[in-house]
Amino acid sequence: MTDSKIIVALDYSSEAQAIEFVNKVTPELCKLKIGKELFTTAGPRFVEKIVAKGFAVFLDLKFHDIPNTVMKACQAVAELGVWMTNVHALGGRAMMQAAKEGVNHSSTKLIAVTVLTSMGQDDLREIGIQMDVTQQVVNLAQLAAQSDMDGVVCSAKEVSLLRENLPGDFLLVTPGIRPAGSSSGDQKRIMTPADAMKAGSSYLVIGRPITQSDSPIKTLEMISAELL
Ligand code: C5P
Repeated sequence: MTDSKIIVALDYSSEAQAIEFVNKVTPELCKLKIGKELFTTAGPRFVEKIVAKGFAVFLDLKFHDIPNTVMKACQAVAELGVWMTNVHALGGRAMMQAAKEGVNHSSTKLIAVTVLTSMGQDDLREIGIQMDVTQQVVNLAQLAAQSDMDGVVCSAKEVSLLRENLPGDFLLVTPGIRPAGSSSGDQKRIMTPADAMKAGSSYLVIGRPITQSDSPIKTLEMISAELL
């Protein structure tokens, strides 16, 4: 199967809406991201259904808890047959290593979230972190690499800097992607798919420009062609 670089964010509030979209696309065209909203309504059986259709699934549940709990949760995720899942790097080295142990007997990739892109310098200061946001992102990404993570989620704007400071095979998964001409919505720091890949992104997370398109397949094909 071709390794599509596009991960479509299935940000729907019901299983029926999500399935309607899934039935329009193919595993060759895109991977699919299931987040907290859809997972909480549709549950693990829904995830298995999508995996059974042949899609590579990124289960975006961003675990952050004591190491033993995160290890067991990651084990349960791996048993669903998902391609990728994630934890918060702020959980620390022991938690990330335990998470990795949880997925060790599977092919599930494990990545970390560094600093949520919704958080600015003031938000960090309020929770006791004095460090510059960008430096905090680099430090947490390096800690993630040392803790056996396969990669991190990051803004496409951070990709060049992270590429300079991390191993070459480290995965950089980037949301905030907008094809030229599409609405930015609530995303502030956006990049086009081609620019993000050129900068060094491994995979692009794209939601509304595809899910709200009149023709998701056409939009996906257009973006894929832009990446060749
Ligand atoms: O619709 P849009 O392309 O903005 O969707 C982006 C997806 O990536 C959403 O599921 C959003 O929650 C997720 N995401 C993000 N920024 C992050 C982490 C995840 O936009 N820093």
